[in-house]
Amino acid sequence: MKSILILNGPNLNMLGLRQPEVYGKTTLAQIEAMCLEHGQSKAVKIEFRQSNHEGVLIDWIHEARGKFDGLIMNAGAYTHTSVALRDAVSSAEVPMVELHLSNIHAREAFRHVSHLAPVAVGQICGFGPAGYTLAIDAICSHLDPPG
Ligand code: DQA
Repeated sequence: MKSILILNGPNLNMLGLRQPEVYGKTTLAQIEAMCLEHGQSKAVKIEFRQSNHEGVLIDWIHEARGKFDGLIMNAGAYTHTSVALRDAVSSAEVPMVELHLSNIHAREAFRHVSHLAPVAVGQICGFGPAGYTLAIDAICSHLDPPG
């Protein structure tokens, strides 16, 4: 059975309360439940984590090496600032899908830059919580291409 690690970065623990006009009213716990259910339906093991701390996220990315088949990362604002997270993804050698609830390209200019995009298999953004299940489908199809 394939295993996928889903990492969530800073402030995503505030989903449901935080700027609902941008991020919606769904909580991170509800998104986690959706992901676990979707993983079961696809027979993949999902592990779901959140941290507000860059170093913790880096440690978890390193942990993925040799232990998980794929990574899904909503790195929050660290997407736009962190070369260290990008280096961690490069050193983990685990395929990663970059994920955002909002369409970062339709927002402020500083959100248009992603340090993670060049080391990602691809990017999913703008679909709200549904993006998480789309990202699971995307990484599964990358790991086990159809046809
Ligand atoms: C986000 C977009 C980021 O720009 C922002 O800093 C976040 C959330 C998203 O899911 O839309 O914290 O990653």
